[in-house]
Amino acid sequence: MHQSVLLTEVLDLLRPNRPDGTLVDATVGLGGHAEALLERYPGVRLLAIDRDPRALERAGGRLGRFGTRVAFAEGRHETLIEILKQSNIESVSGLLADLGVSSMQLDDASRGFSFRHDAPLDMRMGPDSKTAAELVNALDESELAAILRDYGEEPKARPIARAIVAARPLETTVQLADVVRGVKKAKRGEIDPATLTFQALRIAANEELVGLERFIDDAVSVLEPEARIAVIAFHSLEDRIVKRAFRRLQGECTCPPGLPVCACGKTELVRIVTRHPVTATEGEVNRNPRSRSAKLRVAEKVAGGSEQRAGG
Ligand SMILES: C[S@@+](CC[C@H](N)C(=O)[O-])C[C@H]1O[C@@H](n2cnc3c(N)ncnc32)[C@H](O)[C@@H]1O
Repeated sequence: MHQSVLLTEVLDLLRPNRPDGTLVDATVGLGGHAEALLERYPGVRLLAIDRDPRALERAGGRLGRFGTRVAFAEGRHETLIEILKQSNIESVSGLLADLGVSSMQLDDASRGFSFRHDAPLDMRMGPDSKTAAELVNALDESELAAILRDYGEEPKARPIARAIVAARPLETTVQLADVVRGVKKAKRGEIDPATLTFQALRIAANEELVGLERFIDDAVSVLEPEARIAVIAFHSLEDRIVKRAFRRLQGECTCPPGLPVCACGKTELVRIVTRHPVTATEGEVNRNPRSRSAKLRVAEKVAGGSEQRAGG
């Protein structure tokens, strides 16, 4: 059963800057946040974006009752400006990005995200990326080790990469998990040895971190004054990118230490609303363990922060 994370917090913090504005849900998934936003703010319209056509189909069914208040666009949020242009949206009254995979994607055994089900090693969120099988069977040992280290923070990156290269071709989730378990022994009370390898390959296959910073810049550029952007991240690599982007957009100097005068041309485009990331309450974590790692950060466009129009 899919439950949208930090739902109350998103509803409270992502209030639109005007009652008849346009919200964007850049990762609509199964439409849980979108539905609640449309209910809470009855005058707004919402553009629902997702890279996964199956998610859009499900969200379409759920949000159909809102009629012309909702529009849908298939695509990656990295191409936000283009999507807004195609949708004839010039500026935005609030934007949500609930990053990562949905429970529908994780729970669909055939999509190969989980080592708990034997399935082809796919892991694509949408049709626009490489499969995990293509990566593990084509990259060399050093490239694989870099992915496992950088995206999985896997301490045994090199020996696992070596074992993968020796065992290929690998076609299924269980084959890959067994190779990892051959290098890293399972220990009682610890996560499955294959967890970090699967996380790393999923991030690499879907290029989850590529373009995230640019997306945040683009999103802020189309926000109306006093409109907000809310981003939910599920791992520290993602959250670090969001935190740094918000700080830079708030006008914090990013010059290397020791420069006599600031040279980074800092300008204040947003005000950070959440000084610390908002995390799930104990009650929510008990109901929905996936919310344990969620971190929500919100920033507000400052009046006078220069604005780019999607149409212009
Ligand atoms: C955690 S789910 C969203 C759940 C949703 N908020 C809800 O309440 O049902 C994340 C969704 O983002 C989509 N997604 C991930 N990266 C994306 C990207 N770069 N561009 C567009 N959609 C993306 C995934 O396909 C997935 O459906």
